Amino acid sequence: MLNTNEIRKDFPILQRKVNGHPLTYLDNGATSQKPAQVINAISDYYSNHNANVHRGVHTLSAEVTEMYEGARKKVAKFINAEPEEIIFTKNASEALNLVAYTYGDAFITSGDSIATSIMEHHSDFIPWQVLAKKKNATLSIMNANSEGEIPESEYSKIEGAKLTSIVHASNVLGTINPLKEFAKISHENNGVILVDGSQSAPHLPVDVKDLDCDFFAFTGHKMLGPTGIGILYGKKELLEKMPPFLYGGDMVVDAKVDGCKWNDIPYKFEAGTPNMAGAIGLGASIDYLTNLGMENVRAHEVELLEHATKALLEIDELEIYGPKDPGKRTGVLSFNIKGLSSIDLSSLLDEYGFAIRSGFHCAQPLHDALGINPSARISFYIYNTKEEITLLKRRIEEVKKVMS
Ligand SMILES: Cc1ncc(COP(=O)(O)O)c(C=O)c1O
Repeated sequence: MLNTNEIRKDFPILQRKVNGHPLTYLDNGATSQKPAQVINAISDYYSNHNANVHRGVHTLSAEVTEMYEGARKKVAKFINAEPEEIIFTKNASEALNLVAYTYGDAFITSGDSIATSIMEHHSDFIPWQVLAKKKNATLSIMNANSEGEIPESEYSKIEGAKLTSIVHASNVLGTINPLKEFAKISHENNGVILVDGSQSAPHLPVDVKDLDCDFFAFTGHKMLGPTGIGILYGKKELLEKMPPFLYGGDMVVDAKVDGCKWNDIPYKFEAGTPNMAGAIGLGASIDYLTNLGMENVRAHEVELLEHATKALLEIDELEIYGPKDPGKRTGVLSFNIKGLSSIDLSSLLDEYGFAIRSGFHCAQPLHDALGINPSARISFYIYNTKEEITLLKRRIEEVKKVMS
């Protein structure tokens, strides 16, 4: 189990007050807070090591190269991949687009089918919508049932798809999708499968070999790391046959006026000066999570989910979306209260120091399909406590009274 009292001491921002109240940060699905260990790693990088990576034989450049490549090794170990299979991007959106612009551009042709689901974040929906239009391919969208799960009857859309791109854990419903099964279906039908792990890698143990996915995209800032650093894992044999993404320095080994020879993976996909500070900060965040143990992170969130589900459902006319079983979802609870807009609710809660999200959460097609208004969302992380949730319930009830 996690010791939240000790963990909270590592997060300077949790000491601050918002509107005269202690900050209760429940917007971790949007971005997580950062521990001193991550902040210090970035500060140490700029104070003591800053130089350009891979570009010099001088001491600082060699140090930075070792630190940057060390971060890549940590990421690889965290998801059970090989370092050369880890590409640093600027966020998950860029990682997902990278696959659309390279794999998609090279291998999707007219008449092909691309499968995705209705519960995708816009970052894993729009690239496929655009690619399908560009290539005259079909976009097959798997629907969700009233429990927020993809029913088996929809799996046939993966069978027909050359490429399936699917979220591991929904940022609205919390639903954890059965990826191993999806990967099996995709591979049996000669397809490849890309996973949007933005809401899973920070919260659950992830093993890409066990999942047998071909690509896995995630983002540093939701897992205690800095902004501006994202990750794309890809199976070596696929990355090798894909064309580069962006062109420029470092992604080429031999540049001649009549043509170029691309660098090996992963550098082929990392044109220009990368976000060294970001990668090093991400490495520190992975150290932090690894020390806690991802099984413990998951167990803590399931406990908070059970507590929060029970507490929120005691509030009249409140409806929670997604699976009822906490074992089938991550620590994200989206809900609406009849007669109270989610925007009013979140701004009134802000007056009490609560940070919660309201709106479509970049998943407008899902809200349309469910036929629901923009929703309120709370999302947990390692520093959240049951006491915060109990207080949230009390504050929501107060806000309800004022607004009725
Ligand atoms: C499921 C999911 N996918 C993708 C993203 C995009 O992440 P980023 O904004 O870091 O690119 C998010 C961010 O909210 C998300 O929740």
